[in-house]
Amino acid sequence: MSRSAAFDLLPGSDKNEVPAGIVQLNRSISRALRRQRGDFQYYDEPAGDPSLRQQIALRAAKRGWQAEVDELCITSGCQQSLFLALMAVCQQGDVVAVEAPGFYGVLQLLEQLGLQVVEIPASAETGLDVGAFEQTLQRWDIKACVVSPSFATPTGASMPLHARAHLIELAERHDLAIIEDDIYGESGWLVVPDTLKAVDHSNRVIHCSSLSKVLSRDLRLGWISGGRWHDDIVRLKLTSQLASSRFIQRGVADFFADGGYAAYLRRYRQQLQQQRDQLLDLLGTWPVPIRATSPAGGLALWLELPEQVDTIKLYNRALDEGVVITPGELFSMSGKFSNCLRLSFAHPWTRARAEALMRLPSLMA
Ligand SMILES: Cc1ncc(COP(=O)(O)O)c(C=O)c1O
Repeated sequence: MSRSAAFDLLPGSDKNEVPAGIVQLNRSISRALRRQRGDFQYYDEPAGDPSLRQQIALRAAKRGWQAEVDELCITSGCQQSLFLALMAVCQQGDVVAVEAPGFYGVLQLLEQLGLQVVEIPASAETGLDVGAFEQTLQRWDIKACVVSPSFATPTGASMPLHARAHLIELAERHDLAIIEDDIYGESGWLVVPDTLKAVDHSNRVIHCSSLSKVLSRDLRLGWISGGRWHDDIVRLKLTSQLASSRFIQRGVADFFADGGYAAYLRRYRQQLQQQRDQLLDLLGTWPVPIRATSPAGGLALWLELPEQVDTIKLYNRALDEGVVITPGELFSMSGKFSNCLRLSFAHPWTRARAEALMRLPSLMA
């Protein structure tokens, strides 16, 4: 199974009703489109619409980071933000540290850009092992470290404050860029952790995020704040994309400004918490010994199954039952995690899903 296959690339078979918040978002975007006059003849400025950047800055302030509008650049999603960050910081052949297990989209980017990868172990509860990273820095000349401090995929881990401070200190000492993937940051239902930017006193954190996981994957709207590399990043966006669509940005900015986003997010977080609990309850009845994470944010659990289970084989059998799992091996370059998998709780809980999940243990042999 290739890493590309793990993205939700095609329309799913979900026939769920569109949530009220998304209906409201769509109305805001339609209004912004109707208000458009001569815009179709001009590109937006490369950094993106100031009203949307202002709204993103207001949300950042709630998470300990006083972002300026000029420090933000709109992108077509977090994947593009990560791409721009790596392009701005690295040259072909440079070494980049990633967490393992970690997001396969980053592994694909590193391969594509001809960058070398060093995997740093990450705990399923507390994320990147900063002590192990410090040791790795003695041996390797590392240019950048890509990390998800809040509700990392696939585990849902969040880094404690002392580990975040240690990471920033290492970045300063070893002259590194820290590329923060914060795509799940706002999904937390108990706490919404501060961004790494909140403790970035030397402007070495490049913050990357988007609305894909908490609002809509189809908006293709993300952002980046590039710290000391920001001007280069905006130039790279200009040369690779010119600009982003203005009416979508303005519609989303209105949705933020009139409180629609905050209200939607409150409901969505509650729904995620409920679905996580339902999934964990069901897993508790499985007749096989498993270890499952129980994150307070993100969209998925990380399961460790008995050693002999091959989750790549299980993937195809589960697909026949209508359940998509993501095999653990996709989250590393080293062939590790073959008995692990990521299981989403973002889907509304239905009887059919519960029954299909109950059949998974019988497919593990
Ligand atoms: C951790 C992580 N970062 C980035 C992305 C890419 O997100 P976007 O849809 O905003 O490009 C994903 C999507 O799966 C993700 O899981």
